Amino acid sequence: MTAIRSVVLGCGSYLPQRVLTNAELAAKVDTSDEWIVQRTGIRQRHIAAEGEFTSHLAINAARAALAHAGVDAQSIDLIVLATSTPDQTFPATAVAVQNGLGINHGAAFDLQAVCSGFVFALASADNFLRTGAFKRALVIGAETFSRILDWNDRGTCVLFGDGAGAVVLEAQAQPGTPSDRGVLTTHLRSDGRHKGKLYVDGGPSSTQTVGHLRMEGREVFKHAVGMITDVIVDAFNATGATADSIDWFVPHQANKRIIDASAHKLHIAPQKVVLTVDLHGNTSAASIPLALAVAVNDGRVKKGDLVLFEAMGGGFTWGSALLRW
Ligand SMILES: CC(C)(COP(=O)(O)OP(=O)(O)OC[C@H]1O[C@@H](n2cnc3c(N)ncnc32)[C@H](O)[C@@H]1OP(=O)(O)O)[C@@H](O)C(=O)NCCC(=O)NCCS
Repeated sequence: MTAIRSVVLGCGSYLPQRVLTNAELAAKVDTSDEWIVQRTGIRQRHIAAEGEFTSHLAINAARAALAHAGVDAQSIDLIVLATSTPDQTFPATAVAVQNGLGINHGAAFDLQAVCSGFVFALASADNFLRTGAFKRALVIGAETFSRILDWNDRGTCVLFGDGAGAVVLEAQAQPGTPSDRGVLTTHLRSDGRHKGKLYVDGGPSSTQTVGHLRMEGREVFKHAVGMITDVIVDAFNATGATADSIDWFVPHQANKRIIDASAHKLHIAPQKVVLTVDLHGNTSAASIPLALAVAVNDGRVKKGDLVLFEAMGGGFTWGSALLRW
């Protein structure tokens, strides 16, 4: 038996140059480095420059991923860009990326699932590739959350940052066994009853403004670990993988306490957890591919490794993906 799998050919990322430290934030709002580190694990975040848009971050990350994969942009026939901070209401930021890469064939679209965006985009691209609709995809998470933060709200402005990450996926025939390379399983969930717990108080249809991010932090925290662990158990059940058999856990980087609690509940060894929240803050849909690129570039993630992604975010939305590198 053979199976078509979406195999990762390469990954890449991009962070804006400007680093904003906790100490700088403490000079603006009533907070402290100690409070932020203790509650979240975040020490700094990157902030896009004036005139630097989500599409610019995404194009840089995409170019890095294409170079890492060793493939030409012209071979890409699908771009799925996860973002909640598009350049414009429309057209999709994905078409700006497509144009920036000099591609004018295939399809490009945005996907909006807030912090779960990368996992949702990966699952979508995987499904398109496995049906044969497309052959080679760029899956990108790119955000400029600094543009939607209320910089007077200490409960949220300390948490988020800007950045982008991308992977190149290719449809490949694999033996159809658990040792296949590529995406082995994805699990997506949403529950709109929670839509008022993490949202932006503006939009084209409602206020005709961009709005600012609002969050009931404690409520998000309360639900996060249960939701995350549920979809990871789904991934384990679907594949027979276990906390012991996975090589790397690359979670959405929102908060170190949530990541630690999820790994602990699932009995995932701490040394398998890829952590970048200290350096990047929460970059929403960009956080997983940003963390992945770090672990690939420093040699931790190697060919054949079993890699687990999870994310949870506004909506609520949440999901997991398990793949063999
Ligand atoms: C935001 C979060 C760090 C706050 O931590 P917490 O322990 O839940 O803190 P609370 O919101 O209960 O607030 C506790 C106190 O700290 C204060 N506080 C909030 N932000 C603060 C800051 N940046 N600096 C100092 N104090 C702060 C609150 O005002 C509150 O003060 P009070 O007791 O005098 O009212 C935490 O709720 C969290 O991480 N939630 C999940 C957020 C998340 O990951 N969202 C993205 C999901 S994709």
